[in-house]
This record gives sequence, structure tokens and C-alpha cells, in this order.
Amino acid sequence: MKVYDDVLGIIGNTPLVRINNITRQHGIKAQIYAKMESLNPGYSVKDRIGVSMIDDAESKGILRKGGTLIEATSGNTGIGMALVAAVRGYRCIFVMTDKVSVEKRRYLKALGADIVICSAAAKYGSPDHYVATAKRIAEETPNSFYPDQYNHPANPLAHYRTTGPEIWRDTEGKITHFVASIGTGGTITGTARYLKEMNPNIKVIGADPYGSIFKTYKETGQVPEATPYLVEGIGQNIPVGNADVRIIDEIINITDRESFEMSRQLGRQEGIFCGGSAGTIFAGALRAAKDLDENAVVVFIVCDTGEHYLTKHHSDEWMKEKLLLEPQKITAGLIVETKNSGAPEELISVSPEETVVSALDIMGAAGVTQIPVIENGASVGSLRESQILQKLVQNRDLLEARVGDVMDKGFPTVDVDTGAGEIKRKLQKSPAVLIESFGRITGIITRSDVLDLPR
Ligand SMILES: Cc1ncc(COP(=O)(O)O)c(C=O)c1O
Repeated sequence: MKVYDDVLGIIGNTPLVRINNITRQHGIKAQIYAKMESLNPGYSVKDRIGVSMIDDAESKGILRKGGTLIEATSGNTGIGMALVAAVRGYRCIFVMTDKVSVEKRRYLKALGADIVICSAAAKYGSPDHYVATAKRIAEETPNSFYPDQYNHPANPLAHYRTTGPEIWRDTEGKITHFVASIGTGGTITGTARYLKEMNPNIKVIGADPYGSIFKTYKETGQVPEATPYLVEGIGQNIPVGNADVRIIDEIINITDRESFEMSRQLGRQEGIFCGGSAGTIFAGALRAAKDLDENAVVVFIVCDTGEHYLTKHHSDEWMKEKLLLEPQKITAGLIVETKNSGAPEELISVSPEETVVSALDIMGAAGVTQIPVIENGASVGSLRESQILQKLVQNRDLLEARVGDVMDKGFPTVDVDTGAGEIKRKLQKSPAVLIESFGRITGIITRSDVLDLPR
């Protein structure tokens, strides 16, 4: 029978998949291949080290039956360790920062782990920092194992023994460039050590977020002040034991905007649904491949799945809130969807048969100064408080009149896919714009709704 003893048996041996459409668009001649670590059973590259660090502890007698696994993690190492814990009957506690996506937190809980969340703002070395917190919990918990993925040799060793040889085997030794991120450094250090042993001419490129220290640290030996960035799981504010920057030939800094854009493009144009760090790395790979010829074979790591980030960079709402969405991608539909912090909005409107007094009541209750008049789903006019009040000053009897008899002309209507620029232009002439979807008016955008959009 072709079967596995447990889920840990399907870790690794991930395929290399060629990038086609994006490379063509960029005029890149080199072959670029994605190493699909997102296909591991815990959907990330870190499954490899969960099992290797725990195997090591078991073989040395550090971890005994019924023990507790404790680690500081951006989520994926926790998931890798939780798979082992589930299979082998350990308890686990993972300490993470509040930057970690809600998807990864829930995933860990679903695998039976306990999680502790610390503020991402806590400085390294302070007792509230997530690494210090994990260490303290480990000290206080009997029969526990705290691997410390930042320094544990079984982390790079897992990649030296598996990731590197797989890439060498699957490219038949033709790889010329290897691109990875640097979180703990395990992936890049271990894989690069193996590949450079096989062929010292292979170029190793690290892709690192702006704000992380690695580029300056490699190039000058100095540790600069780190600044925050949004991509999860990569970069550091201090050097870490498993990140051997000497083995990396070049480090390229990538912005959050480019990382997320590239991650989104990999999904849309190649069907590779991945996390933000894969976007950072792919952006680095494109840059490295720019002037290479067709004999170059560039392999980059797809560290984890996009499913971990459905509420983050794979959400237009989140991207808009972080001012990371390109202005042309901000559509009428998205503005309406996001104007109430994501809560669905019911379009407030009146019918032409309503009396003016009840229309004013509706406007007052909703706190709006203008309202569309809608009949059978179509816009037939509008009421604007200032103009109605002006008319009422002259003739109070109008309070009982039909809205249809006193209304002004309707607000301009645009399709849900209309871009923000066009909407802003319309709002210079009209106080509101109506949104139409499949022939029905579904929403309204007023001037205040576009104030926070990028120019
Ligand atoms: C999403 C993601 N990408 C990349 C990495 C970096 O891998 P490494 O720690 O091997 O440098 C991590 C590490 O946790 C991660 O979670």
C-alpha cells in the first residue's frame, strides 16, 4: 500500500513550479521556479524544523513522554510543532505577538495548542517581549522543551538535509540563484550551505523588508535601529544565531507594498496562493533575475499559504486601510464596503410616495443631510436638507407634500467598478454619488467617505 504512518511523513519533497506570466510581463529571460513550501501539511516551510528540533530533543532525552513544547513563533513554527505534538501526544504553548494574523492563531488552537499573545511593540530584552515571555513560561513549566528556533542547530540542519538536496535534485544541479527570506535564518542558512557545497558559484540572495536590520548588518557589521513593517515572519531587529549573513551573497530590501502586491500577483497570475513573505522573496527574485539570460535557474521559496492572510493582505479592505492598495484598485464597491469599518451598510433612501415630513424624519434619524429617492431599485431624484428647508420657509404646507413633487434631480450614478479618481471628480459637483450593481442602486458615497483615500 502507498500510505504514510502519520502526517509528518508528508513533510518536504515539495515541488518546483515555473513562473510564466509574471516573468513574461517583466521581460525576464531567466527561468524562475517557486519551491512550494505552502504544500506542506502545516502549509509552511516551518513544518520541516518543527519535526527536526523535536526529534533532536527526543533523541537527547531532553523531551520526555507527556512533555510540553513551548516556543516563540510568528505562527508557522508553532504550526509545525503542533503537528508533531498532535501525532506524538505532547502539549504545546506558543507565544506570539499581536502582529500575527488571526488565521494562524485560530489554526494553532484548532491543532490543540495554547497561545499567549504579547505586544509587538515590546522591545527585545524587555520581560514583555514575546521571546522573553516564552523563555519564562518554559522555565516555569516542568518537563518542557523550549527549542529556541533562532539558535537551535536542528533548524538550519533540517534545510541542509532536505530543502537544499531537494532543490539540487529537482533542478538536476542546474540552479544558479537561490532566493529566500531571513526570519530565524534557518531556511536560507541551511539550504545555502548545502547548495554552495554542491556548487560554490550558486548565488544566494536574501530578501528582507525595509525596516529589518539584515542588509545593513551584512554590509557594515553595524546593527541599525529597526523600524516596523507589516510582512509577517521575516526580518529581525537583532542578529540571530541561525542567520549566517556571510553565506548570503546579497541582501535586497523590499517594501511592504511591493511584498503584498507580488504575493497577490502570484495568486492572480500564476495560481500560487501564498503569504506576504513569499511576495517579498519573489520581488527579490524578479530583481535578481532582471539581467540574467535563459540559462539562469532561479529558485525562490514560497514560505506559506495565502490562507493564513485572508484577513490581511489578501483582503482589499485591509490593504485599503493600510493605504497599500494602488489608487486605481480602489473602486466604488470597495469604498462602500469599507466605509463602516467593514459592517454592511444598508442604503438609506426614500420613495417618491413618502411625505416630506417623514423623509425629514428618516434623514434626521440616520444623521444624513441628503438622501436618494429610489423607486423600484432605480434612482429617480434626491432630497437635500438645505434646499428643502429653504422651500419650507416659504411654504410650511410642503411638509405634507409627496417627496416626488418637491425632490431635486438624482445624484450621479456610477458602476461598482468605477475607480476612486472618477468618483472624486463627480463629488466636486455633487454632494453624493450612487453606486449601481447589475442595474440596482446598492450604495451611496458622500464627500466624507473619500477623505482618507490616497491621492
Ligand atoms: C511566513 C514566513 N516566512 C518566512 C519565514 C522565514 O523562515 P526562516 O525562519 O527559516 O528564516 C518564516 C519564519 O517563521 C515565516 O513564518
